[in-house]
Amino acid sequence: MQGAWRLVPLLVLGLAWSLQVGPVLPGPLILTQEEFDLSRFMGKWYELAVISTCPHFMQRKRGNPVTVALEMQHAASESNFTTTATSFRNGTCEQKSTDYDLTNTPGRFFYYIERFRADVDAFVVHTNYDEYAMMLLLSIEKPSGNKTTTVKLYSRTMNVTAAVLDSFKTLVRQHGMSDDAVIMNQNEGECVPGAGDHSARL
Ligand SMILES: *[C@@H]1O[C@H](CO)[C@@H](O)[C@H](O)[C@H]1NC(C)=O
Ligand SMILES: *[C@@H]1O[C@H](CO)[C@@H](O)[C@H](O)[C@H]1NC(C)=O
Ligand SMILES: *[C@@H]1O[C@H](CO)[C@@H](O)[C@H](O)[C@H]1NC(C)=O
Ligand SMILES: *[C@@H]1O[C@H](CO)[C@@H](O)[C@H](O)[C@H]1NC(C)=O
Repeated sequence: MQGAWRLVPLLVLGLAWSLQVGPVLPGPLILTQEEFDLSRFMGKWYELAVISTCPHFMQRKRGNPVTVALEMQHAASESNFTTTATSFRNGTCEQKSTDYDLTNTPGRFFYYIERFRADVDAFVVHTNYDEYAMMLLLSIEKPSGNKTTTVKLYSRTMNVTAAVLDSFKTLVRQHGMSDDAVIMNQNEGECVPGAGDHSARL
């Protein structure tokens, strides 16, 4: 009898585990922006806020909480697009391009981060295209098998309204994270790679 009672929490845990969506099999649980329009999503974004379940990521980001400028470009004939991220890192301007593969689900992409050997399943959960986009990133690191959930707020400008920020925080809570831990990126100005230091700001 006692054994049967002990089983209950285990079953609950098991259920929670099986509902947890991994990057490999996200299933139907994650909804992307309705009628997602890729061409309207392209162009320039700023990453203004971020939170992740990965402590290493959070530590790195807290050490350098700068706004990342993103430029997304898609050639109509291709099943992928390029995201170029530009930001200050320790006083120098760094730029990195990543290829995102389109998937059969509009608003869902797939990419690989070589530095962490991580597969990333990316979802545009909400966007109104000309103001904000809320991204859910589910990644899995190859060597460790560690799974990470990251939620990011993109904005077309370097600021957002309180309403957008509130709605972002709601999304963060929906994914089991505390909105108190959200890192708000600081606007360090835009930079030009190769130009060297802060004096090269646009
Ligand atoms: C992008 O997609 C095209 C086909 O649509 C493919 O030929 C090309 O190799 C892809 N590029 C990358 C970097 O995956
Ligand atoms: C940042 O730059 C300083 C001075 O150039 C250097 O000593 C430090 O190691 C650098 N830190 C990182 C994380 O690259
Ligand atoms: C993987 O996760 C474990 C447990 O959370 C952690 O101790 C370890 O540092 C993580 N490994 C990597 C490479 O992030
Ligand atoms: C963001 O800043 C710009 C320029 O300072 C301003 O025109 C705009 O109204 C601001 N937008 C929001 C949503 O606060």
